[in-house]
Amino acid sequence: MDEIKNKLWAIGGGKGGVGKSVVTLLLGASLARLGNKVILVDADLGGSNLHALVGIRYPQYTLADFINKRVETIDEVVMDTPVNNMRLICGADDILGMANPKYTQKTRVFNNLKRLDADLILLDLGAGTSFNTIDFFLYAPNKIVVLTPQITSMQNAYGFIKASLYRRLNDAFGKEPEAAELIKRASFSAPGESIDSLARLYEAFRSLGEEQQERLLNCANELKIKLIVNMVKESKEKNVSNIISSVAKNYLGLDVENLGAIQYDNVLNASINNMAGFLANRKESSAGSNFYDIAYGIVKNIRKSNALNPSPAA
Ligand SMILES: Nc1ncnc2c1ncn2[C@@H]1O[C@H](COP(=O)(O)OP(=O)(O)O)[C@@H](O)[C@H]1O
Ligand SMILES: [Mg+2]
Repeated sequence: MDEIKNKLWAIGGGKGGVGKSVVTLLLGASLARLGNKVILVDADLGGSNLHALVGIRYPQYTLADFINKRVETIDEVVMDTPVNNMRLICGADDILGMANPKYTQKTRVFNNLKRLDADLILLDLGAGTSFNTIDFFLYAPNKIVVLTPQITSMQNAYGFIKASLYRRLNDAFGKEPEAAELIKRASFSAPGESIDSLARLYEAFRSLGEEQQERLLNCANELKIKLIVNMVKESKEKNVSNIISSVAKNYLGLDVENLGAIQYDNVLNASINNMAGFLANRKESSAGSNFYDIAYGIVKNIRKSNALNPSPAA
């Protein structure tokens, strides 16, 4: 059994300011309260701020110390937070070039992350659809896209999901020129392009044979994306997850799952410089209980999946 299946979670979403870092932190804190050993990883290599949210001003160690081999093991850069059971690997935007780690560096980070002593590891990703961000997103078996009900955020979330699918397809078919050309056409879907959806791409793949068609579908089926709609002010705004799901289904052939919504919370917004305090007073916050519900759902699903696929050691 693939032991990282339930362990690694990436939190992305394309747009800055939608609450990816807040979701990482508060979802992590809720998961920790439910008894899980949690490690947050600030993988926003250009604008890291998770440490500031938990009140660490100058991180003693960051992910950069591991990438640049100033420490021997990744465990040395894991720091405690004010929340029991929740630790943190701080981000590193201070180092020139760090926003663009090489492929081998990334692979080393990935391989070491999955060995960390934790039940759940949450990766807080940067904004945008750069290769690095998408690679972290694709690497994690569990993928959360955070969006808000704003139209620009919805567009960005969809763009992020689309970029992830086509990056995945490029990885799978990049060395096969005919397939790669069709994938490129679908991903750009320029005006007048007939291959403008995964279904059309599948049709176009017919000329490459059934096996290739099958591989194409498998890539899409393996890409399990979950949504969290953040900063909801009115109940009807929760529907944006249905809109994204149906567009992703129609155009990208993806089954996108809705994890839940988080209310816009004045207490949270006013506490952004003192999230440790916010976490300590969780009862008064509406968003706090939304995070708890989502965390509870995640834990329940993990239990179910472990019961269906017990690990050989159990
Ligand atoms: N549910 C919420 N209610 C109120 N304000 C929120 C909520 N979620 C996030 N915010 C505010 O949005 C801002 C951006 O959040 P952040 O997590 O830093 O975004 P990102 O990591 O996506 O760039 C924060 O300053 C925070 O105060
Ligand atoms: Mg952030």
